[in-house]
Amino acid sequence: MRAVVFHNIGDIRLEEVRDPRIQNHQDAIVRLTASAICGTDLHMVRGTLPGMKKGTILGHEGVGIVEEIGKNARNLKEGDRVVIPSTIGCGACSYCRAGYYSQCDRANPNGPEAGTAFFGGPESSGPFHGLQAEKARIPFANVGLVKLPENVSDEEAILLSDIFPTGYFGAKLAEVKPGDTVAVFGCGPVGQFVIASLKLLRAGRIFAIDTIPSRLDMARAQGAEVIDFNAEHPVETLKELTLGIGVDRAIDAVGVDAVRPHAGPAGKEARAKSEVYRQELREVAPRTNPRGGNWLPGDAPSQALEWAVEALAKAGTLSVIGVYPTAMKFFPIGAAMNKNISINMGNCNHRKYIPHLLNLVASNVVQPTRILTQVEPLTSVIEAYKAFDQRQAGWIKVELTPAA
Ligand SMILES: NC(=O)c1ccc[n+]([C@@H]2O[C@H](COP(=O)([O-])OP(=O)(O)OC[C@H]3O[C@@H](n4cnc5c(N)ncnc54)[C@H](O)[C@@H]3O)[C@@H](O)[C@H]2O)c1
Ligand SMILES: [Zn+2]
Ligand SMILES: [Zn+2]
Repeated sequence: MRAVVFHNIGDIRLEEVRDPRIQNHQDAIVRLTASAICGTDLHMVRGTLPGMKKGTILGHEGVGIVEEIGKNARNLKEGDRVVIPSTIGCGACSYCRAGYYSQCDRANPNGPEAGTAFFGGPESSGPFHGLQAEKARIPFANVGLVKLPENVSDEEAILLSDIFPTGYFGAKLAEVKPGDTVAVFGCGPVGQFVIASLKLLRAGRIFAIDTIPSRLDMARAQGAEVIDFNAEHPVETLKELTLGIGVDRAIDAVGVDAVRPHAGPAGKEARAKSEVYRQELREVAPRTNPRGGNWLPGDAPSQALEWAVEALAKAGTLSVIGVYPTAMKFFPIGAAMNKNISINMGNCNHRKYIPHLLNLVASNVVQPTRILTQVEPLTSVIEAYKAFDQRQAGWIKVELTPAA
């Protein structure tokens, strides 16, 4: 079968690989009808989420048809159409039972302390072969896979595999209550689903911060008040628009590849700190390999976190869903502590939220495909990665169709 294979930082290839096989009784083999590219994949290819093993198939978003099942995947049958949660949980340990699927004690072969088990990730996450492929082995398939009703399309379902649940998780971690004023840092696909989720939770005002025009346009179309950090100082603007109080909740949907402003009133301040950011980058991502305008890491790993803490009102809540590697040790702890900020963060417990969000999609309460901007055949995957990596105008969320 064909799959996207990680060779090295800055080197991924579409290749012929061996078909997956059932290894455990709770496995299923799924033939993928939809996959997608995520901002998390970019961290891995840029080298800012290190530890990838050569030969690992990338991708952690998938929809498909069950083709084969192990003898203990008793709730599934061949031909079932399913969405695959990005993170893998066993469903039996105390963490899974409490809904912390991303902290499962058993799914990660490196042991209970090794971290979240997910498809297509670094060695420490399994590694499990990913879903940018024609087929995949799904461990604990009886727990993870969620059956899809006929009236939910692949385009809708692929967004339920990772980014809609993650956006919803981010809004929940922020402890958003009806009427709250919320700032969302990052208007990539995840940030867009944070905004959609804030609307579901009846936030009062939603601010969206980024610098890419097509992404700010999409946030505005969803009803957010937008701020371009290369035109205005995001913290000063947020204060000015909230009577100097700041926002009740802030959500980091940026992660380790954060960039600093290179123009506008915030640009000067960031320039003065450029050596600090360079040092952060050296520690977080000692190996990178930018090539031909691609795979360029961000230039200010702590920038979004810093702004989020500064923009928060006293006693506000910070939610961090942007991904940071374990080497990331830079956070304005003193500023947060002295404002009585609460901080919640982590990898999404996808399986906990998918059934609820699937109902909202099936009943047309949410139209997730508003955020899907490209559908590309797997044969064009490398070009699609490059366009998404460069954040080309209009490239927000890319679905891949492995069968096309
Ligand atoms: N916690 C989880 O379970 C989980 C799941 C999926 C994705 N993620 C993470 O969510 C993050 C976003 O994912 P995505 O697919 O939307 O990625 P993306 O790279 O497409 O989007 C990131 C956006 O942040 C913007 N940005 C960069 N620096 C900024 C700054 N200083 N201030 C404000 N905005 C800034 C970029 O312009 C871009 O639009 C990534 O870190 C990804 O790894 C986390
Ligand atoms: Zn993802
Ligand atoms: Zn478990």
